[in-house]
Amino acid sequence: MRSDQIRTTFLDYFRGLDHLELPPGPLVTDERDLLFTNAGMVQFKPYFIGRSRPPHARLMTAQRCVRTVDIDRIGLTDRHATGFEMLGNFAFGDYFKRESMVWALELLTDGFGLDRDRLWMTVLRGDEESVDLWRSLGVPESRIQRLGPDDNFWSMDMPGPSGPTSEIFWDRGPAVGRDGGPAVDSERFVELWNLVFMQYLRGDSDEEILGDLPGRHIDTGLGRDRLAMVLQGVDNLQETDLVRPTLEAVRDATGRDDEPAGHRLVTDHVRTAVFLISAGVRPGNEGRGYVVRRLLRRAVRRLVLLGVDEPVLGPIADSVTEVPPGGAGRSVVEREEQAFRRTLRAGSRLLDTELRQGPLRGETVFKLHDTYGFPVDLTVEIARESGVAVDTEGFARLMREHRERSRAGRP
Ligand code: SER
Repeated sequence: MRSDQIRTTFLDYFRGLDHLELPPGPLVTDERDLLFTNAGMVQFKPYFIGRSRPPHARLMTAQRCVRTVDIDRIGLTDRHATGFEMLGNFAFGDYFKRESMVWALELLTDGFGLDRDRLWMTVLRGDEESVDLWRSLGVPESRIQRLGPDDNFWSMDMPGPSGPTSEIFWDRGPAVGRDGGPAVDSERFVELWNLVFMQYLRGDSDEEILGDLPGRHIDTGLGRDRLAMVLQGVDNLQETDLVRPTLEAVRDATGRDDEPAGHRLVTDHVRTAVFLISAGVRPGNEGRGYVVRRLLRRAVRRLVLLGVDEPVLGPIADSVTEVPPGGAGRSVVEREEQAFRRTLRAGSRLLDTELRQGPLRGETVFKLHDTYGFPVDLTVEIARESGVAVDTEGFARLMREHRERSRAGRP
């Protein structure tokens, strides 16, 4: 099933259950502490905490999300991406656990044709109500796992709505990993759908619950691209129908068919960067702009490691699907690539020589940064790949001294 059909099937199903479809929220949020929309519920935060009323008690969206917390895993796992679409059904003071479970199970099995014997559930330890509900729906006890709050308690990592979750996983089979369910192997048992039972107002940390929300709400997120990976029988997110054209453009650029992890990293990063650029973000040295810059720089560096010495990001950016045509993506990534290739050429020789001589001194990291414009996180990343330690404290000290000198107007 194609990704667009997955979206339509989801929305048609919940429309039949009286959910009103709203447009996705903007990728760039108004939240001070949240760079990008990273879940469907973000635009609904005021409804969850009772600050304003939703237009309807049942809503649904197909939400583009960007999450960079797993950036170091991209290309190394099958299931991570910095950008993805989340399909969500939401209820505000309306239905709660039982209905969200019944419908998720029915849609996955009857709607998408998944074998129910390969679905696993997790619940928050202590939430026996959810265990009983899954059992009453025919899920055997052996495929329900009780996990701690790291896995089964959801919040926005900031003050706001929060609550226990129950997640639904798909068993990709013994060829992919170990037995033992999602508690043991989240690559074999891949999370498809997160059902959040929004109940609590969270303070500064997940341990600090300030009280109950004014109502009990449902927030769910089904990963469209992960479901596409399963339904299309491909090995990873970058091979799914809407991402594959970019993977192919990357392969064309390198002319290689080895190094799949590198190809998938470049694919992921350019795709997300183009999304952010089309949402109006431009590469820069801070905040949102730095995320775009970092994605593109990581992509360029990986291309260099794959032996690509000439700029290639333009055609790769053009291959990105699901962005409006004629956007600024191509020209922005091309400019960024050219500038960064110059930086890389200038700093790489010094870095290579230093890496051969053992741990990187703070002075070297500072010089790379100050003289060559070499970003510190890149220096640290390259050193880590080479198994060489970095004196980050020494670097931080030199930076502090440098700042103080600049403030005092001295060179
Ligand atoms: N907010 C939950 C998540 O992001 C469910 O949508 O996983």
